[in-house]
Amino acid sequence: MSSEWTADRIVEQTIRIMSQGVTAMQRLTDAYFAKRTQEADVNWVTIQMAREYGAMSFYGDLARLAIRGGISGRDADEFTHIIKEEVDHYRSYQILLDLTIGKDTPIPDDDCFHYLNIRFTPDGVAFFPGSEEVVARKWPEHHRFISLWMDNYNNLPSWSSKLLMTQGEGGSCGWHWCLANAPQTDDFLKGTAKLEKVVVEDELQHGPDEIRRLAEAYDPANAMPMEAMFEIAREMRYLDIRERNEQFLYPLSEAELEEIRGLIYSDTLEPATIYDAVA
Ligand SMILES: [Fe+2]
Ligand SMILES: [Fe+2]
Repeated sequence: MSSEWTADRIVEQTIRIMSQGVTAMQRLTDAYFAKRTQEADVNWVTIQMAREYGAMSFYGDLARLAIRGGISGRDADEFTHIIKEEVDHYRSYQILLDLTIGKDTPIPDDDCFHYLNIRFTPDGVAFFPGSEEVVARKWPEHHRFISLWMDNYNNLPSWSSKLLMTQGEGGSCGWHWCLANAPQTDDFLKGTAKLEKVVVEDELQHGPDEIRRLAEAYDPANAMPMEAMFEIAREMRYLDIRERNEQFLYPLSEAELEEIRGLIYSDTLEPATIYDAVA
């Protein structure tokens, strides 16, 4: 019954699923730390640079849409701030990449710029022409996640769509948090932890901080059934683990991924505490 869904309950359930996703993500990052290769280091940093590149460009689209949707110039200024942070993240990962392959070495895989080469228009979100084929071929797990994410944005009732969008950057935030806690065993992981501590602080403001405001504006007329929406949130958390496993060059086996899937869907993982500040 929809009337049972108070703002507090919506916030609690949204954060719970994201936080359980972080606990699952810790299993993945632990496996990566244990099985690390230089190839895996270079791969995840290169992809992460591409994600930051995608974010810095699509926040420009979101600013444009928000202004056309009627927000004030003062509120639009917030986007300038976010875009600057995404550019800073891009630069930080570039510095980290230099630590692995040497300063000023060209980016190892130029195709990476297709990874999050998406645009938001009044018709919805989609890849720029030519990028989706590359992504589907080279990064099928990422393609699976991003397809669900775009489908949520394009096709769900507006309130549910906005709430699920917070699971996107919110989930990424968890991944950064796990890396911020990397064991300090060499210069690369020391550099990783240092930069990730900054990124986590920024990313908590790129989505998760919206959850409370959205929950208070819950609009059943523009929402899908709440349980069904939270099932999609769980699916996002599971596909996110698979996508990040691909980014780290597969430290987790299919059997381990299947176990994580069961834990996410049965609601049995102990939630991590990372989002307490925004709850
Ligand atoms: Fe970022
Ligand atoms: Fe961000």
